[in-house]
Amino acid sequence: MSKAESWGSRVGLVLAMAGNAVGLGNFLRFPVQAIQNGGGAFIIPYFVCFLLMGIPLLWVEWSMGRFGGKHGHHSTPFILDSMDKRSFWKYVGVFGIFTNLAVAAYYCYLESWTLSYMWHSLAGTFLGKSSEEVSSFFSTYVGLNTWEPVLFWLICLLMNTWILSRGLSGGVEKAAKVGMPLLILFGIFLAIRGLTLKEGSDGAVFDGVVGLNYLWTPDFSTIWSPKVWLAAAGQIFFTLSVGMGSIQCYASYIRSKDDIALNAMSAGWMNEFVEVVLGSSILIPIAIGYLGIERVVEMTQTGGLGLGFRTLPYLFTQWGPLLSALAGFAWFCLLFFAGITSSLAMGTPCMGFLQDEFKWTRSKSAWTFGAAVFILGLPTVLFFNHGVFDEYDYWAGTVSLVVFALLEIILFAWVFGMDKGWKEINEGGDIQVPTIYRFIIKYVTPLFLLGVFVGSLPDLYKKIIDFSNPYVVGSRILLLALFAGIAYLVYIAYQKRLKEGRFTS
Ligand code: PHE
Repeated sequence: MSKAESWGSRVGLVLAMAGNAVGLGNFLRFPVQAIQNGGGAFIIPYFVCFLLMGIPLLWVEWSMGRFGGKHGHHSTPFILDSMDKRSFWKYVGVFGIFTNLAVAAYYCYLESWTLSYMWHSLAGTFLGKSSEEVSSFFSTYVGLNTWEPVLFWLICLLMNTWILSRGLSGGVEKAAKVGMPLLILFGIFLAIRGLTLKEGSDGAVFDGVVGLNYLWTPDFSTIWSPKVWLAAAGQIFFTLSVGMGSIQCYASYIRSKDDIALNAMSAGWMNEFVEVVLGSSILIPIAIGYLGIERVVEMTQTGGLGLGFRTLPYLFTQWGPLLSALAGFAWFCLLFFAGITSSLAMGTPCMGFLQDEFKWTRSKSAWTFGAAVFILGLPTVLFFNHGVFDEYDYWAGTVSLVVFALLEIILFAWVFGMDKGWKEINEGGDIQVPTIYRFIIKYVTPLFLLGVFVGSLPDLYKKIIDFSNPYVVGSRILLLALFAGIAYLVYIAYQKRLKEGRFTS
């Protein structure tokens, strides 16, 4: 069963990869990060990180995946193992399953809010509510005053699991082919509304372009602030899904002679288009148009990812009942498509591992993934207000990515070696990757990553020694246990391979 798994078409592959990258990060996380880090001060580091870290890592991860796939490996432990014989790398590869499971655990909850808000937008729940009431609707929601959030979360988990159980070309690719075009359509509709927002009409206090200017007027005063650079690097990782293991997994199903040089670029740039063009033309212009820069900055200090849920439904109600239902539906449906095409990507590494190593069927692997996400996600749902959700995001959605990316690029450029690596990247390519990137991949990206890692150490240390919140400590133990559990499974799989005489490359 796992042998037959592959992508149906090139368009399908690029859309699925773009769907993997384009996620809630583009529409909810990017604007909030940009605002928190001073708007125009954020954009320059962001683009530098994209060019020097994001793009190189895309090429590296795509080619590692295709290379592993040639040897029949679809998850990072054995993809990394096929690149160097030292046992160590297999265990580094544990990150590529761990991160996906742990991120999926909180991401699916976030994704389920969009389903619920889609329903409430259509049902007119927000009509006639004040902005405080709409904002506190969100607090009440995540405060779990009713069972509704749990219900939507379960529906969301079931949808993910079901699509995953239908496989790549029959499930994931179809979801991307429907979801991505609709997402872009809804995005354009909302971006036009955001940018044409006029001071004085529909209750707006500022023009939509005020928010846009805030974001796009370069501000050089804080350009050397490490905090801004770390945030920019973190956003690039999260939005491109690099350092996760899901790109390697998707790429491992590409045929060995197919292009990656151009496909990786297409998916990466599509993500950037959605993030910097659509992502910055909706939430920020509309929120600032109604609330002003100061208020929005203040809200991002506490609200974080909730900003798009706390503000937009109320602001839409200013547009009248019909348009507000339409805009609310379009916004949350867009978020849902962005989310689900990403969470599906998080399911595949774990499934690939179970199928390859334990010969499980696709459907059994998919349901196992669903069950794991349910168990791991439960604390984020039940103890959302105790910081568990954010703790997962910090360890799995931020720190792990940097650590894994740093190690994998060392493996690729220094252990596997740049001669072989460069050949892998360009083989079958429809474009020739600019030669400067050979130098960048070997020296600049690893050093850059090292810098990011070292720069985040003080914060990391502060977190580690803080035991004040038992929920947070508990969730850390759970994440550690998850990592150890996966490492143990990798160990068993390796012993099994040895016994069966299946060598690892
Ligand atoms: N890139 C996705 C986003 O922007 C998040 C993601 C993380 C996707 C891990 C796949 C794997 O939301």
